[in-house]
Parts: sequence; C-alpha cells; structure tokens
Amino acid sequence: MNTPSLDHYLVVGNPIAHSKSPFIHAEFAKQTQQAISYEPLLIETNNGAFTQAIQAFQAQGGKGLNVTVPFKQEAWALVKQRSTRAERAGAVNTIGFDNQGNSWGDNTDGIGLVRDLTKNHGKSLNNQRILLLGAGGAVRGVLEPILQEKPACCVIANRTVEKAQTLARLFTDLGDISASSYTDLAGQQFDIIINGTSASLQGELPPLPDDIIPLKRGWCYDMMYSAQRTPFIQWALEHGAICARDGLGMLVEQAAEAFYLWRGVRPETEPVIELLKQRLRDSLSASPQTLPPEYSGIENRPEPTRFGDWEKSGRCIDF
Ligand SMILES: NC(=O)c1ccc[n+]([C@@H]2O[C@H](COP(=O)([O-])OP(=O)(O)OC[C@H]3O[C@@H](n4cnc5c(N)ncnc54)[C@H](OP(=O)(O)O)[C@@H]3O)[C@@H](O)[C@H]2O)c1
Repeated sequence: MNTPSLDHYLVVGNPIAHSKSPFIHAEFAKQTQQAISYEPLLIETNNGAFTQAIQAFQAQGGKGLNVTVPFKQEAWALVKQRSTRAERAGAVNTIGFDNQGNSWGDNTDGIGLVRDLTKNHGKSLNNQRILLLGAGGAVRGVLEPILQEKPACCVIANRTVEKAQTLARLFTDLGDISASSYTDLAGQQFDIIINGTSASLQGELPPLPDDIIPLKRGWCYDMMYSAQRTPFIQWALEHGAICARDGLGMLVEQAAEAFYLWRGVRPETEPVIELLKQRLRDSLSASPQTLPPEYSGIENRPEPTRFGDWEKSGRCIDF
C-alpha cells in the first residue's frame, strides 16, 4: 500500500515552544484523515529573518503556515493577497501558497472568537452592548467579525485612549463603535465584556468600575486562557457575571478555520477543546511550577477553578 505524501505546514513565532497549535492540528488531521505534518518553527526577530524563513519554506514545497507573535504584521505585509478581514485587521495569522506560487493571507482570530461565543457557548452577539478591553493586535483582529454580528454597540476601552480612538475610526463604517478611557466607563453597563488586553499575562486587571456587569445576565470573556482562572475571569465572577469563559475555544476555533482554508475540510472542534482542557488540568495537578511561560505571573494563584461547582451554582466557567 502506498503511503500518501505529506503536505507540510508550520506555526512560526518567537517564542513558539509553548504553542498548542501542533497538537491541535495533529488532532484535526487525525480526525479528518488528512495527510499533513505541522511543526513549530522559532524565528529570530532580527530584520529579514521572517521573510527569509517563509520564502525558504515555500521553496521547499511547504503548503502553508500559521503566524503568531510578533510576526503577524510582517506576514500581512509579505503576502500577495489578503482576505478582507485580514486587510482590516492589519495582521495575518494564516498563510497559504497556491499552485502558481502566490501567497495569500487571512486572519482567523476574529471568526475564532465569534464561533467560540456563538456556537460553543450559545451566546448571540446580536443587539448586545459589547465592551472590548485593549486596543492591540488581538482586538483589531476581532472587530470586523464582531461588528458583522450586529451588536447594539461596541465600545473599545484602552489604557492608551488614542489607540482605542484610532481603532474605532478604522471600523466606524461597520457599525456603532466608539472609544473610551477606563475612567469614562463609570455608570455604564455592558452585556458582554471581552478582555483583549495582555494584562492577565502579568497577573493584572484593567481598571474597571465595580458595577459594570449587569447582575445575572452579564457575560465576560478573556481572550487569554490558562490552566487556572485568569485574573479577569476571577474578577468577573466576583462582580456578578453569569458566565465567564477563557480563550481556549477561540484558539481552537481560529485553528479550525485555518485548517479549513488549507484543506477544505472543517474539523470538529469540541473534542479537541475537551482534550486541551484535560491537558491543562493534568498540567496543573502534576506541577503548577512547570506551566508554560505564557502562564507566568498567575501560576501560583490560589484555588484552581472547580469546573463543575460553578456550573452547579448556575454560572459557568472554563477552568
Ligand atoms: N485565544 C486566542 O486565540 C488569542 C488570540 C490572540 C490574542 N490572544 C490574547 O490576547 C491578548 C492581547 O494580545 P495582543 O496581541 O493584542 O497584545 P498587544 O498588541 O501587545 O496589546 C496589548 C494590549 O493590552 C493592553 N494592556 C497591557 N497591559 C495592561 C494592563 N496592565 N492594564 C490594562 N491594559 C493593558 C495594552 O494597552 P496599551 O495600548 O495602553 O499599552 C494593549 O491595548 C493576549 O493575552 C493574547 O494571549 C488570544
């Protein structure tokens, strides 16, 4: 029997060792019986290293790659064609090469977030008052798919207000979008609050008013994920959120969209999300000290979340 030849894919970034994408894509490939390899590649951050690595990979017959921090903007500039959502996002996280040797780029982060909220958690964004925290690459990447869901309004709050104002201006034709400082959020409430800051990575919280979550109906979502509650999820549950979710589902959903773009087959995401949750729980019980670097600053927080307890008390949370 002939073994089918493998199509080769990469995930590139710096750092990259912690990436869960190789595991996720290996699971997708197994599930859909696609003959692919998918490897992590560390790229130095010196000038030109990213472009050289991508061109060498393409010359060797590589089919596509995922791009993560800090190369998403460079990827945007490098590809020949961009999807409209990548164009707006100003960043590319998925690259493919066609048979003519042209490269195309897309950004699947936003659709990953929207699918996680709407499909996995059954939370519609339509007609909701949405607050987005942060104005970096992650928030810019999710704005178009969020606005396509027709929320009542979308407010971007950021420590550096000018960055939020710039983002709001870029997307103003797509819906009711505005910028705010954290201070000016006083007295307002939002149906859904999405944390797209990197504050959780440092074990910190954006400075939010205590009463910003409407009791018994407010949702919170942290784009960051962790084996333990992120500081934002902890805060959300202490301030009346009915539901608080982390970004693990977003990670898997953005990967599924990339897989679909490359292979034309849509993998089931739920079993892969469950496997990852289990791996995170195992890593926690094995040794909190050996968590990957992305968890630094929060690994010693007390009281890991007991998944079932929150569900039983009528609230829900991942980890
Ligand atoms: N789950 C997923 O698939 C997924 C995908 C993409 C990103 N993410 C997560 O999204 C987060 C943001 O990523 P990014 O690429 O957008 O980062 P980024 O471009 O570096 O932007 C960071 C943002 O966080 C704000 N910030 C940082 N520390 C803060 C603090 N202590 N208090 C308040 N605001 C703070 C910054 O505000 P200033 O502008 O004022 O500095 C900026 O708006 C990261 O945690 C990343 O892991 C998750």
